[in-house]
Amino acid sequence: MNNFIFHNPTKLIFGKDTIANISTEIPAGKKILVTFGGGSVKRNGVYDQVTKALEKFEYVEFWGIEPNPTVETLRKAISIVKSENIDFILAVGGGSVIDGSKLIAAAALIEEDAWDLVRRPSLYKGVLPLASVLTLPATGSEMNRGAVITNQNLKEKFAFYSAYPIFSILDPQVTFSLPQFQIACGLTDTFVHVLEQYLTTTDQSQLMDRWAEGILSTIVEIAPRVCSKDLDYNDMATFMLSATMALNGFIAMGVTQDWATHMIGHELSALHNLTHGHTLAIVLKGTMWVMKEEKGDKILQMGRRIWGIEETDKEQAIRMTIECTDGFFRSLGLKTRLSENNIGADTIDEIVKRFRERDVHFGENRSVDPENTRKILEYVM
Ligand code: NZQ
Ligand code: ZN
Repeated sequence: MNNFIFHNPTKLIFGKDTIANISTEIPAGKKILVTFGGGSVKRNGVYDQVTKALEKFEYVEFWGIEPNPTVETLRKAISIVKSENIDFILAVGGGSVIDGSKLIAAAALIEEDAWDLVRRPSLYKGVLPLASVLTLPATGSEMNRGAVITNQNLKEKFAFYSAYPIFSILDPQVTFSLPQFQIACGLTDTFVHVLEQYLTTTDQSQLMDRWAEGILSTIVEIAPRVCSKDLDYNDMATFMLSATMALNGFIAMGVTQDWATHMIGHELSALHNLTHGHTLAIVLKGTMWVMKEEKGDKILQMGRRIWGIEETDKEQAIRMTIECTDGFFRSLGLKTRLSENNIGADTIDEIVKRFRERDVHFGENRSVDPENTRKILEYVM
């Protein structure tokens, strides 16, 4: 096990009717920017609960942070924060609204442009205090310091690291209005977050392995029910907590991590505006197959423990594990081939070109280079 420091300061407020807690969690006297997406919160009652809880506060609303949040939209919010002397940000939405708000909270403290901050971490000078009301289980943004920002003009998408939310409110009741496709993408994102931290080598930490496998098995178990029409509170609560636990540092203690599938997926979103979880369902099969020499033993462990594969021939068992994983995403209704999503070889060429220019080496062994990226994407064509 590698050395590590674990520190996650986000206060998690979880359960039925917890949105009202906003009123006591935000310090009195703060002037708040409340950020939203495209309007789902007006249809499912979240907006009414948030505004009721904010009755005693002075606040400004900012609407329109889109899925795959763009710096072009966020710049407008940053200028409002500066001109209105806002000193607290409350993000109400999915990962995109929370991520976008993390950039707003950081860019408001510097003179330079927000995109420069995304590309040059040295410009970072801290953040305004930020909290969230999560409406979509998927990204873990409610309890981590990551944010992924798109530049629509450049067709680029990059991760950026700012601060953890001070508190995040997770009321599973708000997930009942999620469209089936977003549930499928959220389950997939959660599943692949775990794999990015698990699917490396065996025998680094039995405890991390079992925690990771606990989340994977839980997602597999609840997926058919969470994807059905009859949603159950406990299932949605389990889904929501699984997504948070998958990317808040808990399963990353002392182990190596991969993230190549995410990095390639971000390019598919940047070029085609695909939903994040969907990109992972496409790319992962290729990563598992192309990197199977390095990841083979862990793929076998996953096959045995998650999919119950008892095949003793190593190559065959690896194939079966990859097929079960891909089959799981397809069972959620996701199309897992590039061609099924009208994405052609020109996109592969463009991603490989970008990765050459950036001289990238992703993965736990830094071996997912532009050439392996081509193999991964061609495998899932
Ligand atoms: O915009 P509204 O109208 O609110 O609708 C949203 C949006 O259209 C809708 N939605 C959210 N909650 C709902 C709901 N509809 C009905 N009922 C609800 N309760 O869902 C759509 C998608 O929302 P979005 O926030 O984009 O989804 P998600 O939470 O999956 O976030 C995706 C973004 O997060 C980034 C992704 O790259 C992507 O940009 N990620 C952030 C990470 C992080 N911060 O650590 C890690 C992840 O790997 C990921 O990269
Ligand atoms: Zn993700």
